[in-house]
Amino acid sequence: IHVEWDAVTAEKGGYEHFMLKEIHEQPKAYRDTMLGRIDKETKKVVLPELKLTEEQIKNIRNIQIVACGTAYNAGLIGRTVIESLARIPVENDVASEYRYRSPIVTPDTLVIVVSQSGETADTLAALREAQANGAHVLAITNVVGSSIARDADDVLVTLAGPEIAVASTKAYSSQLIAFYLFGLYLAQVRGTQTDEQVAHVLAAMESLPEQVEEMLGKADAIKTYAEQIASHKHLFFIGRGQDYAVVQEGSLKLKEISYIHSEAYAAGELKHGTLALIEDGIPVIALVTQESVLEKTVSNIKEVKARGGDVLAITYEEHAVELLKSVDQVFAIPKTLPILSAAISVVALQLLAYYASLALGHDVDKPRNLAKSVTVE
Ligand code: G6P
Repeated sequence: IHVEWDAVTAEKGGYEHFMLKEIHEQPKAYRDTMLGRIDKETKKVVLPELKLTEEQIKNIRNIQIVACGTAYNAGLIGRTVIESLARIPVENDVASEYRYRSPIVTPDTLVIVVSQSGETADTLAALREAQANGAHVLAITNVVGSSIARDADDVLVTLAGPEIAVASTKAYSSQLIAFYLFGLYLAQVRGTQTDEQVAHVLAAMESLPEQVEEMLGKADAIKTYAEQIASHKHLFFIGRGQDYAVVQEGSLKLKEISYIHSEAYAAGELKHGTLALIEDGIPVIALVTQESVLEKTVSNIKEVKARGGDVLAITYEEHAVELLKSVDQVFAIPKTLPILSAAISVVALQLLAYYASLALGHDVDKPRNLAKSVTVE
């Protein structure tokens, strides 16, 4: 037998595309990003690399998270995490907007810039704008020697490893891990969570890699669904709370590589206009992991069903039977704490985008009109 085996094929490690390989590398990326940052004895987060002092952390009055694209979407999760763990008000900004909106920054403002490459021009400019206004800037980046890493006052490195596919997967999810660690660290210093609460979240975080592996084992079901939606021109994602932040990333991923138009909506906001676009057979993907608002989301799903929407619910196994009464299909994902759910659920949405793109015959790793890193304004 003659096997064709060129350098690129070898780099893909047996996967058909870099994106699929990188999706599968997420358990490792999670482990690597957590490594050495969780003290096994004290069950606390340790971030010795930070210059930010405890005194400065106690004085933080507000946080602004600034980024572009997928990194912006990771920041949306960062907000839910920091606000719930550390009770510090957080704003999210797209970097190209932040620069020009005269952001209100004081010496007690912490600005967090998020960038896989560390080279995005808009994000770098936003960082400089924040520093010029006196803010302390923490960068969450995947590239140690990048421009953003060099210019920031503090750097929290994600250890996702090189990401080749234009559509970001493991870099995004490792940014989530960085936000979990940093949110817990803020909570420890400011005393907004007890030691037991911190230990509880950390224990759940340590299970995430295995849970993602379990998720990856169910990719076939997602593939089948992706093939169903591939013939549609438009679809919707809905969710509440952290699920709303995750579906914004799911929608972006799908648009980036499958070119299917989609919109992510806060489930409760649908009825304020968008419901007009729900017609017979239009796919609606509902992410339902936030149990405190589960009933509310189910009501929104019913509004969609009443207008003929074809609903897939992504939820925990224990809610699957109940949800099946209101939706067309259910996909069950492993259960974790509400603030950590994004690190698992996003993997389902990445696979969905991947298989939809594949079904449509697009160039998954190099989608049209997109660059991996945009170094011009
Ligand atoms: C480009 C890429 C996006 C990415 C964004 C931010 O637009 O196409 O996938 O999310 O830049 O990149 P960064 O390297 O700053 O995370």
